[in-house]
Amino acid sequence: MSGADQGDPAVILEDRPIPRHIAIIMDGNGRWAKQRGKPRHFGHREGVKSVRRVVEGCRILGVEVLTLFAFSSENWKRPQQEVGVLMDLFMSALRKEVKRLDRNNVSLRVVGERGGFSEKLQRQIGDAERATAGNDGMVLQVAANYGGRWDIAEAARKLARRAAAGELSPEAIDEQAVNDNLSSPDLPDPDLFIRTGGELRISNFLLWQCAYSELYFTPMLWPDFDEEALHRAIADFQQRQRRFGKTGEQVEGGSASTPAQG
Ligand code: FPP
Repeated sequence: MSGADQGDPAVILEDRPIPRHIAIIMDGNGRWAKQRGKPRHFGHREGVKSVRRVVEGCRILGVEVLTLFAFSSENWKRPQQEVGVLMDLFMSALRKEVKRLDRNNVSLRVVGERGGFSEKLQRQIGDAERATAGNDGMVLQVAANYGGRWDIAEAARKLARRAAAGELSPEAIDEQAVNDNLSSPDLPDPDLFIRTGGELRISNFLLWQCAYSELYFTPMLWPDFDEEALHRAIADFQQRQRRFGKTGEQVEGGSASTPAQG
């Protein structure tokens, strides 16, 4: 587990590259509420404040893409009332935050199986995406009704259709072809994957895209995650040596700046 002691003095970021893409599993809302004797939805509402702080923190640092796991394909299994609260929160956040995102030059994208959402929510998602599509300061990608396996299966289905139609030879299906058919082929893979809440799992998040991500786990619960916690995670990332399959000596010699395949 990557160290993230709470209560350290303010973090100083080094003059080293910051991650281009940060992906976050925002876990611990329910426990945060329970610790305060409140219902779980109280934690989800507080979690939206952390979302705001982290979006702004990333924007200030010049992170290009921030992906947040808001609702997994498996979250439908939660009690109906909690699912309802999460949908309402998502809808109200879209309504309230779009102007702020636009002011901050952030473009919003939602990835996941949107057919599972109400028509109203699907419309709102489309409106928010269109309203911010021209912004080039940062991409905020929200994964909603998303699963990494779903994403890969969708890519396989698209490729299979083209192969069945005779447009694509099965031999032409390589890693690049799969990648190009995932939900966001134009975005760089996450450099830094953060999970709050103490669990040490990837939980079907961006499975393909996280092949070479640096993983950072913190026991901090999502509603407590603030700009300083974000800086601590990035400072930890800056200490890592990214080898992409090469040796440490090769990297130190300066020959491993881009991911090697495989
Ligand atoms: C996990 O905590 C959190 C979620 C399943 C939902 C996260 C959603 C938000 C923070 C709000 C909406 C987000 C956006 C982008 C507008 P948990 O409930 O599993 O916590 P627990 O492990 O303590 O029970």
